[in-house]
Amino acid sequence: MRETVLTMMSSRIREVANAALGNPDVLAFWFGESDEVTPLAVREAAMRSLERGETFYGHNLGLAELRAALARYTAGLHAGAYDERIAVTSSGVNALMLATQLLVGAGDDVVAVVPVWPNLTQQPTVMGAQVRRVALRPDAQGTWRLDLQAMIDAIGPRTKVALVNSPNNPTGWTLQPHEQRALLAHCRRTGTWLVADEVYERMWFGGGATVAEPPRDGRSPRGTRAEGESGESRTAPSFLDVAQPDDRLIVVHSFSKSFLMTGWRLGWMVVPDARVLAQIGKLIEFNTSCAPEFVQHGGMAALALGDAFVDALARRLRACRDRLLGHLRELPGVTVAVPPGGLYAFLKVDGQADSLAFAQRLLAEHGLGLAPGIAFGPEGEGWLRWCFASRDPERLDRGVQRLAQALRL
Ligand SMILES: Cc1ncc(COP(=O)(O)O)c(C=O)c1O
Repeated sequence: MRETVLTMMSSRIREVANAALGNPDVLAFWFGESDEVTPLAVREAAMRSLERGETFYGHNLGLAELRAALARYTAGLHAGAYDERIAVTSSGVNALMLATQLLVGAGDDVVAVVPVWPNLTQQPTVMGAQVRRVALRPDAQGTWRLDLQAMIDAIGPRTKVALVNSPNNPTGWTLQPHEQRALLAHCRRTGTWLVADEVYERMWFGGGATVAEPPRDGRSPRGTRAEGESGESRTAPSFLDVAQPDDRLIVVHSFSKSFLMTGWRLGWMVVPDARVLAQIGKLIEFNTSCAPEFVQHGGMAALALGDAFVDALARRLRACRDRLLGHLRELPGVTVAVPPGGLYAFLKVDGQADSLAFAQRLLAEHGLGLAPGIAFGPEGEGWLRWCFASRDPERLDRGVQRLAQALRL
């Protein structure tokens, strides 16, 4: 067995959660998913496909109809042409691994914005690459910020890939368009690929947190972001809005979060052109060969639900976020900022520096299941992640009561 794999740490979230999986007395907010089941129309579409007997191998890149539907979906959010640029994958994490396999080999230099969902940094490690971490830092209010210059300084001509997850899991930090332009411009100079994990782009609440933009660099953006009925943007800032066709950019997406389909394992990726797509097709053959056809029919039904479904989901999530944050901010000793996007509140409790020990104590003594910040890297130590995607918002209230008990309030 490879030393690289043997020495990799397993998930610290699982380290806390495994002890209590299925325990009805625990209020669990540790995993990154809603407790709402996938919409019936999606489940029925998959069942109809199975009834038709669609149980065979399919095209490496996915069903032509699904790829066409994804190209339309993407163009509706980020103006541009996406035919011949989309591969259907067996989940977002699979899309990330395919991008990593395409771009990164042993000894290569990769730069990642952290703290972050650990899979993002572990995948290049599996390939034998060196991952250098550029840390977001929290301010006194708990809002996490990127030192853009530090990121730019970290990316040199030897850097194969820059990894950015925005909106970020776990902090909610979201890259602004002027920062995206600056990063892209720099990566053009160094020949570095940008892999953008934008799986939370529709879990976007705006929040008025947009930073004033400096003048553009003279290159016109390719698209503008789609707006919802209220005039608020429907999506978080995406690299697709600022990139040029010749940019070395791969954007990773998933059906998991926006369509409540975590267990289906369906995602997609947007690549620059047909040449790159052909290479991804080869890699899909060696990894999974194709996404299951009935799952892809579920994906088509999900897209057919339209913006009304995703926008309504985002509104429900926003209400959950506001409810949880309202309570948490009343607790003395708790620091937490309002995340503009994603599914998570990232909080710090005074005097609790060891997040794993604290998460284990919250579970054992108070039946409250949170993810320890250390699971997202040393930069997250001392923090806890709370997934607020809950069908029953009162569960969030009860969770906060348990936290208050633990703090003896
Ligand atoms: C930042 C980020 N990227 C990608 C994924 C992958 O999602 P999936 O593999 O379910 O499509 C997740 C899931 O939690 C995530 O948090």
